[in-house]
Formats: sequence, structure tokens, C-alpha cells
Amino acid sequence: MKKILVLNGPNLNLLGVREPDVYGTVTLADIEREVTEYAAGRGASVDCFQSNHEGALIDKLHEARGAYEGIVYNPGAHTHYSYALRDAVSSIDVPTVEVHLSDISAREEFRRISVIAPVCVAQIKGKGKEGYKEAVDVLLAR
Ligand code: DQA
Repeated sequence: MKKILVLNGPNLNLLGVREPDVYGTVTLADIEREVTEYAAGRGASVDCFQSNHEGALIDKLHEARGAYEGIVYNPGAHTHYSYALRDAVSSIDVPTVEVHLSDISAREEFRRISVIAPVCVAQIKGKGKEGYKEAVDVLLAR
């Protein structure tokens, strides 16, 4: 069975209460449950991890080497500036799909840049929680 890691970065633990006009009212627990069920229906298992700490996310990415066939990753604001997380993704040789709930290309100027997307196999944005499932499809199609 294929194993997929669903990784969420800073502030995504506050989904549901955080800027609902931008991110909706879905919680991270809802997303994690739905993506786990969706992947199970496609014959894959999912582990979920969220952290507000860059180092914890780097450690998790390193641990993913040899343990997962793919990663679904919403890096939150790290997307726009964390070369350390970009280097972690490019160091581990595990296909990673970058996901954003909102359409980062249609928001503030600073959100239009992703320093992580160039080392990912795909970027999915603006599709809400459905984007996480689409990311599973991308990984399973490889
Ligand atoms: C986000 C977009 C980022 O710009 C923001 O910092 C987030 C959430 C999204 O899912 O739309 O924390 O990654």
C-alpha cells in the first residue's frame, strides 16, 4: 500500500476560525479526515502532521525519506520565504505536491512567489480542501 504524508505548516491548525472569509470554515481535522478517507478509497494510507515550527517540519521531511511514496504539503507562509524548507524538500527525493487552500496568485504581492514550488512536482491552489485530494491523485498517478 502506498503511504502518503500530509504536511501542514504554520497557522493551519487554526483553520475554521482563522480568516474564514479567505479560508472558509473547514477545520484542519476535517481536511485530514477527508483526505485520509479519500486516499484509503484509492488504496493509499495517509499520515498527517502539522507544526508551527520550521525545524519540526524540516525534521518531518527528513524522516519521510524511504518512509513515504509522496507528500502533500501546505507550507503556509513558509511558502513565500523559507529556503530551508525548500532545501529540505529538494534533499529527500520524495515527490511533493504543494497545496494552498486559497489562490495565492490572486492575493497580496508577497504571496505570489513560492520558493518551494520549483522543487515540487506540482502546485495546486485555490481549490480549498479539494486541492488536498487532487494532490493525492497527482501522487498516485506517478
Ligand atoms: C496558504 C496561503 C499562504 O499564503 C498563507 O500564509 C497560509 C495559507 C493557503 O493554504 O492558502 O497560511 O498556504
